[in-house]
Amino acid sequence: MRRKAWDKGLGIKALAEYAPRVESKADILMKRLSERAGEIVDMTKWSLFYTFDVMGLVTFSKDYKQLDDAEEHFTIAAMHSQMEIVGIFGAIPWMVPILTSIPGLKGPLEVFVRYSNAQIDERKAEWNQDPDPEKMPKDVTSWLIKAMQDGDPSAPSTIEAFHDDGRLAIIAGSDTTGSTLANIFYFLTKHPTVYERLQKEVDDVKSSGGDASQIPYLDAIITEALRLRPVLPSGLKRNTPPEGLLVDEVWIPGNTIVFAAQHVIQRDERNFENALEFLPERWLDEGKHLHKNEQAWFPFSIGHYSCVGRPLALMQIRTVLHRVASGFDLSFAPGDDGCNFWEETKDTFTLMCPALPVVLTKREGAMSQ
Ligand code: HEM
Repeated sequence: MRRKAWDKGLGIKALAEYAPRVESKADILMKRLSERAGEIVDMTKWSLFYTFDVMGLVTFSKDYKQLDDAEEHFTIAAMHSQMEIVGIFGAIPWMVPILTSIPGLKGPLEVFVRYSNAQIDERKAEWNQDPDPEKMPKDVTSWLIKAMQDGDPSAPSTIEAFHDDGRLAIIAGSDTTGSTLANIFYFLTKHPTVYERLQKEVDDVKSSGGDASQIPYLDAIITEALRLRPVLPSGLKRNTPPEGLLVDEVWIPGNTIVFAAQHVIQRDERNFENALEFLPERWLDEGKHLHKNEQAWFPFSIGHYSCVGRPLALMQIRTVLHRVASGFDLSFAPGDDGCNFWEETKDTFTLMCPALPVVLTKREGAMSQ
């Protein structure tokens, strides 16, 4: 039920409103990377700055300016410092009150919870100040407020539920996309032939005046990265119905917590040929034979509870990827081969990626962004 209000806040009409904000943040990211060309930059950090900044603008109409300040916002730092604990306990909004009652965890998590609640309260007060009944929401939070005011049954029913949704937006809307982007940069640096093909396709589309964010090979790269590195690697938990459930030959009793781990299923040789290899072409006609089971790719989950932010996530990733491909060559920092990034990434509910030290070199005669 609560899905409808979210769908409006992240639907086609809303996305058209958000697109210039995504582009403006992508432009700032490109500026920061240009200033650091030839130096070692941590692409995990910059990917997360970008997606958190976009999340702030899209969710709360608030500019976190992490890209401008090159510094993590204090509330995001507080949240990140506790993600390992959240990963162990395994579920987001309803665990927060329990976790915040544990001495030692209370401090940083409370900082995050208090801040996120305040953002919701602030947006609500601003919305109520403007008496125009025809005003249109400008961000996800306002769409939820409008749904509440219109008596939409899918809107958060209490202020506590609304606060939960605020936290959901911050965590679901930023870390996920930032980690995906960092992983894509890892794969592109690790696989120069893939990156060269992407650069060539981007150059060709740009020189013919086309839209470089809509290149099938670019999407194939995103899809393949999400296959090998799904950002919710263990998936989310579900309860079986009281009468129990038969899955293939296996009987699962009722009211049992189950989950389908994307990390395992998406790397299974029964579902994908050469399953552990990064082969974006498997998502194009030329590589169809590498792809055995359509249903075995579900990084955004499937069905009623699938990701409502998928189009926004893809918009953000595409917007940055073609700009970077057009502007820079990528290589690992001297002495690094990406192994540390690959091996030290942790499943903390969402993926927590370590630093990805990369050198970006400006391309000769790069197309304008
Ligand atoms: C690559 C990026 C992303 C991935 C891989 C991803 C993945 C997922 C997955 C797997 C779920 C389903 C959880 C479940 O099974 O219950 C989910 C839910 C959700 N995602 Fe995303 N997500 C991404 C980006 C975003 C963005 C940018 C937003 C924007 C706010 C967002 C908002 C949400 C929300 C609100 C839900 C809960 C939907 C509901 O309860 O009906 N996600 N996401």
